[in-house]
Formats: sequence, structure tokens, C-alpha cells
Amino acid sequence: MRVFARGFRLACDRIALVDDRAAAAVPVSGQPILPRRSRTTGERHCSAVPAPCLQLPAPGTYQQEWRHRVSRVIAVCNQKGGVGKTTVAVGLAEVYALHEGKKVLLIDADPQRNATSALAVTDPEFTLNDVIYGDPDNNFRVPAGAAADAITEAGEAWQIGKAAPHVIAAERHLAARERDQMLAREFRLRSALSGVSELYDIVIIDAPPSLGMLTVNALTAADWSILVTEPRASSFEGIGEIAKTMVEVSEAFNENLQVAGIVLNRLRRGLRDQENWALKIRNTYGDAVVEPSLPAREAFALAHAEARPLMSYGRSANTSLEPMKLVARRIWEGSNS
Ligand SMILES: Nc1ncnc2c1ncn2[C@@H]1O[C@H](COP(=O)(O)OP(=O)(O)OP(=O)(O)O)[C@@H](O)[C@H]1O
Ligand SMILES: [Mg+2]
Repeated sequence: MRVFARGFRLACDRIALVDDRAAAAVPVSGQPILPRRSRTTGERHCSAVPAPCLQLPAPGTYQQEWRHRVSRVIAVCNQKGGVGKTTVAVGLAEVYALHEGKKVLLIDADPQRNATSALAVTDPEFTLNDVIYGDPDNNFRVPAGAAADAITEAGEAWQIGKAAPHVIAAERHLAARERDQMLAREFRLRSALSGVSELYDIVIIDAPPSLGMLTVNALTAADWSILVTEPRASSFEGIGEIAKTMVEVSEAFNENLQVAGIVLNRLRRGLRDQENWALKIRNTYGDAVVEPSLPAREAFALAHAEARPLMSYGRSANTSLEPMKLVARRIWEGSNS
């Protein structure tokens, strides 16, 4: 079965409308957009027929009930490691998809592939690395809509609730993309998502702990960003750095980029130092700080390690799930303009 067909069908199964741009991502001949990669050697080679990219489908191809979707693309970032970016990205994907029935695509842009494993995705045929590597036979360009080829569904443990999220997985070779030197390298993810993000209510990008090209690609592709941080001295200083990167990206590549909020993660109430830093962050960044903060809860780490959604633990996970739902609501409202 063709990968593209599979990816696109996954996307369409539960997805209502596609606008013209989304339609433009559909290769009419059904050929995959991405160059093929040998599973044994890892080498890439293009399909025998060049990617036919981007003709519009015939009128009436799409079902009448499909409607225009206003999607939002949100990058979850902070160059500081271990602050909870993946926990927030995966938690939001769970709330929006499993609990609220929204169409969610989670993109793992971190070569550590933590979101990929948290969503129980194993052995995907194509990953984000294939998507933004580009077409070697076409000057390494990334065809519009190429992301569709790499879409897969979250693993079995996630097939509960209203709708399982879709995923574009990461692999460790994605780290090499940080060093890409070609022209317009900041726009590769944005180009790949063109016509694909419109198929979803929300696209969440889990960025790596760096200010390199992968984070820049995530911010260039996004309409909104979420900064995740912890109530600590070192994390407080880090917010300024990522904020500076965001300003630079918005000035140079993406004037639409806005901050959906700063999520304070792993707050331990009763620890004076943490409460002081939480206060300082709130005083400094005001309304941008999302209320409530996310508490330190073992359930987050457990769910992550066992590649299961919090929902699958029943009521015992409620003290983790409830604040995540409130954060998700606040982010949704904050990004609704
Ligand atoms: N609120 C929390 N309570 C308890 N454990 C948490 C919480 N948030 C995150 N963790 C755990 O802390 C570790 C780091 O979190 P996570 O992977 O989400 O951070 P990250 O910012 O994505 O890290 P990296 O920068 O390496 O990508 C994980 O084991 C995760 O399960
Ligand atoms: Mg992470």
C-alpha cells in the first residue's frame, strides 16, 4: 500500500473539510510525495514517477459535509532540557483528541523522539526526518504537503476516547537537520505542512531542547507558541532566551507568530523556593502565564514511560488530568483570535 494513501486516509477518515490549499496537497496520481527510503540501507531514492505534486482534484471529489476548518499550529518550546515540553505537548494532544474529539496532529521535532514513544508509535515508515530532508533529485526541495506521507496513528493504547491523535514521528537522524545549510532551510516544515495542517483542528509541534534549526523550523511553521518552564532560577533566565529567538523568528520568517502562553510545569506547592520563582515569573510575564500551573505528579512520568494516555489510568490520574484540561482550555481560548 502506498504510504501517501495510508497517511492521507488516516487524515481524512475523521476529518471534515479541506479547503483549496489542503486539496492542493493531494497528489492526484496517488504517488507518494516523499522520496522512498530503503528500509535496509537507509538510502533515499525517489519514486519512479516524479512526484506529481499539486494539482487540484476534480470538483465534487470531497464530500459535501466537509467544511472549512480553521486550524492552529502550536509549537511547544524551550531550549532548556527536561522542563516538560513533551509532557505538555502529549498532554494537550490527549485532552484535545481523546477527551474533546478534536482532530489533532502531533509532530515530534525532537531527535530524542520522546513524544513518538509516549504516543506508542513504533517503526513508522517515514518520519519527520524524511519530510524535511527534501527530495535529493530536486535540489533537496521539500514539496508542499510532504508531511502527509509521514502521518501515522498513535499506538494501540491510544485507541480510546473520542479520537486518537495522529503523529509524525521523529528518529535520531533528525539531529542532522540541525546542520542543514540549504537556502530557505527555516521554511522546510512550514512548506511540508502546507495543505496538511488545514486538515486538523490543531497541530502540536514538540520542539527539541535547543535554539537550532529544528526549533526555528517549528516556530516558522507555527501560528502560536507555548513556552514551557519550571519555577526555578535557571528556567527563569531561559525564558528570556527563547523569547528572543521567537522575536527573531517572527521578524525574519513568520510575522504571524504569537505566544499562546507560558506553562509553568512541575510546581511543588509548599516549597518556598519554587513558589517564589513561580511568583516572579507571574509578576514578570503577567497574563501570558497560563493558570493553573501543572503540578508535579508521578502520573505524568508513568504515562510517558508506559506510552499510555492519562485517561487509561481511570480516576487515579485525575489529579494530573484535570489541571492539564484547564491548561488546554486556556491555550485553546488564548489561541482563538
Ligand atoms: N509535572 C510533572 N510531574 C512529574 N514528572 C514530570 C512532570 N513534567 C515532566 N515530568 C517528567 O520529567 C521528565 C522530563 O519531562 P519532558 O520529557 O516532558 O521534558 P522536555 O522538556 O520535553 O525534555 P527535553 O528537553 O529533553 O525534550 C520526563 O520523565 C517527564 O515524565
Ligand atoms: Mg521533550
